Amino acid sequence: MRAERILILTGAGISAESGVPTFRGPDGLWEGHRVEDVATPEAFARDPVLVQRFYDARRAHLGKVAPNPAHMALGRLDAAWPGDLLIVTQNVDDLHERGGARRLLHMHGELKSAWCTRCDRRHPWGGTLSDQPPCPGCGHRGALRPDIVWFGEMPYGMHHIYNALDRCDLFVAIGTSGHVYPAAGFVAEARAAGARCIEINLDPSMVSDQFHESRLGRAGDLVPKLVEELLQGC
Ligand code: OAD
Repeated sequence: MRAERILILTGAGISAESGVPTFRGPDGLWEGHRVEDVATPEAFARDPVLVQRFYDARRAHLGKVAPNPAHMALGRLDAAWPGDLLIVTQNVDDLHERGGARRLLHMHGELKSAWCTRCDRRHPWGGTLSDQPPCPGCGHRGALRPDIVWFGEMPYGMHHIYNALDRCDLFVAIGTSGHVYPAAGFVAEARAAGARCIEINLDPSMVSDQFHESRLGRAGDLVPKLVEELLQGC
């Protein structure tokens, strides 16, 4: 397959085979929790300990999971691809990094980062936040929050992402249901800019009909195949 400038969007489905739960569906995270209770600034203002515990548990779980063949394949692509590449993930886990991806943007934030609402600095974070540790920057207690984009907040890197969408000639969405905007609108933007659009998902997403091609199956099987096709063509 021929392409020069690639933008890849990933969602929870790419980490599912690693054992990180997706959001929607029978065993999804949003089955066990109400979004309004744990993933909004209002929830955090109302009950910070509940929200911190939710993200503390998810951060701790990262130590029990490992990148799967889909993450590893994107890492290989990143290392070998001579043209433009941007991997935009909605995921807050660190499995892309551990799979070798470098040209990576976490548009919904990262579990392994803490943001001090007092001094506005971000710090790499591996431990808990519910016990109100001091900020390593300003020393203030109780001001660190998960560096996660909650509903109603602006995703990271939007300017950079739209620039890349407008320039890419291949757009690939992997393991995302197309429920959440702005990410669900990226395919329309890329397609309008003339990019070929391919979806890899277990089942058709909400925006499947906007892709030129839908490859249905497990990311761990289909992403390595796509990466091989791309690297053979370059
Ligand atoms: P979802 O849980 O909405 O969708 C995951 C998608 O992955 C579904 O369409 C599944 O069919 C698919 N899937 C599951 N296992 C798969 C596998 N092994 N291979 C390929 N596909 C698989 O997750 P997202 O679309 O990522 O936002 O959700 C988007 C945003 O909604 C999240 O970033 C989060 C959530 O609310 C915030 O918290 C701000």
